[in-house]
Parts: sequence; C-alpha cells; structure tokens
Amino acid sequence: MRTVEWSAAGVRLIDQRRLPQDLVVTVCRTVDEVAAAIRTMQVRGAPAIGACAAFGLTLAAQQSPATSPPDLLADLERGERLLAATRPTAVNLTWALGRVMQAVTAACECGVAAMRAAALAEAQAIAEADVFANRRIGAAGAPLIADGDTVLTHCNAGGLACVDYGTALGVIRAAHADGTDLHVLVDETRPFLQGARLTAWELGQLGIPHTLITDSMAGHFMQRGNVQKVVVGADRIAANGDAANKIGTYTLAVVAQRHGVPFYVAAPTSTVDLSVAYGNDIPIEERSAAEVARFAGVQIAPEATPAAHPAFDVTPHELITAIITEAGVLRPPFGPSLAAAVTAGAGVLAERERPVSVDALATAGRASV
Ligand code: MRU
Repeated sequence: MRTVEWSAAGVRLIDQRRLPQDLVVTVCRTVDEVAAAIRTMQVRGAPAIGACAAFGLTLAAQQSPATSPPDLLADLERGERLLAATRPTAVNLTWALGRVMQAVTAACECGVAAMRAAALAEAQAIAEADVFANRRIGAAGAPLIADGDTVLTHCNAGGLACVDYGTALGVIRAAHADGTDLHVLVDETRPFLQGARLTAWELGQLGIPHTLITDSMAGHFMQRGNVQKVVVGADRIAANGDAANKIGTYTLAVVAQRHGVPFYVAAPTSTVDLSVAYGNDIPIEERSAAEVARFAGVQIAPEATPAAHPAFDVTPHELITAIITEAGVLRPPFGPSLAAAVTAGAGVLAERERPVSVDALATAGRASV
C-alpha cells in the first residue's frame, strides 16, 4: 500500500512508529486525528506529511456542517492553521495546504458541495504528483551511481517518507533496478532512528544490499575510502540551494567535502521554498528533549540531565554537489537552476494531474450530496 492514502473511512496511513516490528495501518477519521498523527510522527517525511495534511483538510471539508461557502472556508482556515502548526520545517506541509485552499477557494462560486469535491480532487492530485515526481527523481539520479559504489544515506527519504517510492532512496532503488551493483550505508539517525528502523526495513524489503552504522561512524568510513556517494533528502530548500534535512546531515556534508565524496540532495520541487532566500531563515523544529535522553524509549541519561533536540540542520549550498529533482539534476549555481526547476517541475507535475474543471466539480459535488 501507499504510505498515506484516502479511503472512504478517512486517511489511511502506515504507523511508522511501529516499524520495523509491526506493519500497522491506521485510519485517521478527523482533521484532529490527522494533525496528531503528523505531530507524533506516525507519519513523517516531508512529502508524506504534505499529502497527509492535504487529505486531513479534505476530511475537515467533508465533516464541516457549513452550508455556505464563507462558513466552509472559515472551517477550512481553522483546519489549515491546526495542520500547519504540527511541524514547522518541511515546506511540503504548508505548500500542500495552500494548494488545497486555493482549489477550494476557486470552487466557491459553485457552492459547498463543489468545494468539498475540489478539496478531495486536489489532495488526490498532490499524492499522485508526488509518486510521479519521485519516479522522475529516481530516473534522473540513477545514472549518478556507478557500479561498485557504496552510497551513504541519512534518515529515511524512502517510500515511507513520501506517498510511495522515495527521493534519496528513489535514486538508490532506481539505480539498483537498472542493474547497478551498489551497497548502502545506512546512518541509524539518532535520536528518532529513522535510518535504523525505516530505511533499513525498506532496503530489506527491496532486496538492496545495505549495512547499518551509527551516525558517528560515517566519517571513519569516508576517511577509509569506503563511501563513493552521499544521497539524502530534504525538508526545505532555500532559493540559494541551502538545504534543511534531518539533524546530522550538515556534519555528513562537511566530512564528505573533506574527503571529496559527492554529496547529493534528492527532493521534489515541492520542497523548494523560493520565498526563503537563505538556509538560516528556515525554521528548525525543536522536539522533545526526552527523545534524546532516551534510546528507543529507554532512559539512558540521568533524569535531571538537560538535553537539546533540534530536529533538522541546514547544509550550505557550497557543500552540495547537485540537487536531484523531478525536473532534472541541478548543478551550482543553484539560484537560477532552482527557480527554473520550480517552474519546470510544476509543468512536469501538471502533465500527471488530471485537469478538473469547476463545472465538473460542481456536478461531482451535487452527485455526492
Ligand atoms: O523528522 P522526519 O522523520 O520527518 O524527517 C525526515 C527527513 O529529514 C527526510 O530526510 C526528509 O523529510 C526528506 S523525505 C523524502
């Protein structure tokens, strides 16, 4: 199944906190449940939370008692605020919410049924476009991986972090599917262990050879010449190419540069935020210190020890060899190439999305009421 999808009962998603021990599918039946699922990391990864939020807003639209467009919009604005406040760093979340709100607003003149139908159509289009973009990222990035390469990755930028397929893991799995002989070094990714729990699980499912390491081993393996490429995902890319990703990514990029290892960021253009000029302006989520003071739920530090937990860091664009998007592989200088990719990416995705006219939505809305 997909990591997150729409169903008649609500938003179906894989509970990622339970992996790899249990593959549990849960259904969120209200917008509040969707917001809680994102906040508590049942669903995580930038594109996945974007699609999930879009479906959450669709639930809000369907469950609102509003009978007039202004009342429905007011309810949706409340839902949008609730969902947008769940996690601040990944721009895919607010990007997806903005798209749904825009689609609903455009359908206002056709009445509340059409607005509800527009929300669902847009959320579905976002999910479809994400899978399409991921496959394009995989196809664009696979030629960068050579036979015999060991590729290091951090966190989880696989199918679980997206609607399906994956970005950084999309590149790796596309190269593997092309017959490239590769090995993956998987950073465990303290403190939430997305690498150990999720990336290792996905690679196992896909039959891709891999080895789990602790984050602190990455420098050692690069120094020994055991890593040929680093490929990671991103949560938000600023207009100049600075990229926010899971905490620890910046350290990897510094060490990769020290050892001449190419450092690639794989992300859809929905992760690019041209309104943010520099990485320093990207908001960094602060999560609970308890996640650091504990390991897999078990307290390891003295109870009284204060701990810090920035969940993301920013890799400056000078340390990035290329950014792999659905619009192609971007090389420095990233300023102009990112702006062009955002435009091209929108075109690529529009090809994939079914155009839905407001008239068709009005008919669909009336039919479902
Ligand atoms: O805190 P998370 O697990 O949501 O962080 C996820 C990451 O940092 C991923 O690398 C990023 O979202 C890219 S996912 C395709």
